Amino acid sequence: MPSYRIAVIAGDGIGKEVIPAGMAAIERAVRGTDVTVSFTEFPWGCDFYTKHGRMMAEDAYEQLDAFDAIYLGAIGSPAVPDRVSAAIILAIRQRFDQYVNLRPMRLLAGLTSPLANRGPADIDMICVRENSEGEYSGVGGRVHVGTPREVAQQVGVFTRHGIERILRYGFEVAMKRPRRMLASVTKSNALTHSMVLWDEVAEEVRKDYPSVEFKKYLVDAVAARMVTHPQTLDVMVTSNLFGDILTDIGSAISGSLGIAPGANINPERKHPSMFEPIHGSAPDIAGKGIANPIGAVWAAALMLEHLGARAGHDTILAAVERVVANGKTLTADLGGNATTKDVSAAIVAEM
Ligand code: IPM
Ligand code: MG
Repeated sequence: MPSYRIAVIAGDGIGKEVIPAGMAAIERAVRGTDVTVSFTEFPWGCDFYTKHGRMMAEDAYEQLDAFDAIYLGAIGSPAVPDRVSAAIILAIRQRFDQYVNLRPMRLLAGLTSPLANRGPADIDMICVRENSEGEYSGVGGRVHVGTPREVAQQVGVFTRHGIERILRYGFEVAMKRPRRMLASVTKSNALTHSMVLWDEVAEEVRKDYPSVEFKKYLVDAVAARMVTHPQTLDVMVTSNLFGDILTDIGSAISGSLGIAPGANINPERKHPSMFEPIHGSAPDIAGKGIANPIGAVWAAALMLEHLGARAGHDTILAAVERVVANGKTLTADLGGNATTKDVSAAIVAEM
């Protein structure tokens, strides 16, 4: 009997409101199956910081490492500088070598894209974002602070190992999708060291996947293409910063930032992987109970899939699709007036 232990960090703002929806969906999905899931909640985030002067407990990584997966809501509050709060997300990704950030971007039937005349067949892509190095390596520093000679360096770190493993993962994802297309997205006309290395590695790796249609793009061109020709994109493999930017475009053209999920994956399973909606803590609507829980629920589905409960994933996603297609129970970001709890209940009722 498979049994999974999940660490839950609901975090801040709407994170606290959407995570219960994902937990409810999981509980419903596994009910009556041979899968059991247990949740352990940790009160970490900005409130914890205000009380204890740190975002997580001192032994947080040791504690988290004992779980099968981490389910994260959102981190961030006006009371704590962003670079302090966001640091724990980046630290967990690096510490647990979650080097794949997998982000599906799909226009679900029933939703309206801000792009004119686009339907579900036009927007169905997935970003495989490098999640452990690149522009987010954390290498750098500041000297001569506060003086006219002040210097800041933020060093991009690209390794052959890191590039190769993310590209291979991307090709494996592409192999499982009907269109089998892979776009390697760089900026090698301007970043002539790191991204030329990326291009060279891509040329080598692609030889192992002859059945995947391979294309190289520059990131600025791909940003435009996502808007003008989204139907030509399937799997995109890209660097940490570029993936961050492109996936916000991708979720926006899919109807709302509130629906997109993200999986931070350690494919070797040496450490837990982490699943989160890609939206933030949204202090402007926090506490009102109107946040869209679909991003968090979809992330919960990806977590089940990663853990091996594929059927649970499919059950949850199908329920989300039915609720969206039905159009009666949608939150304000999707043009409705339902609450977070209404949408959560509607999804569970569909399962
Ligand atoms: C995301 C977020 C993070 C990122 C922030 C909070 C550091 O924007 O997951 O997309 O840039 O990766
Ligand atoms: Mg982002």
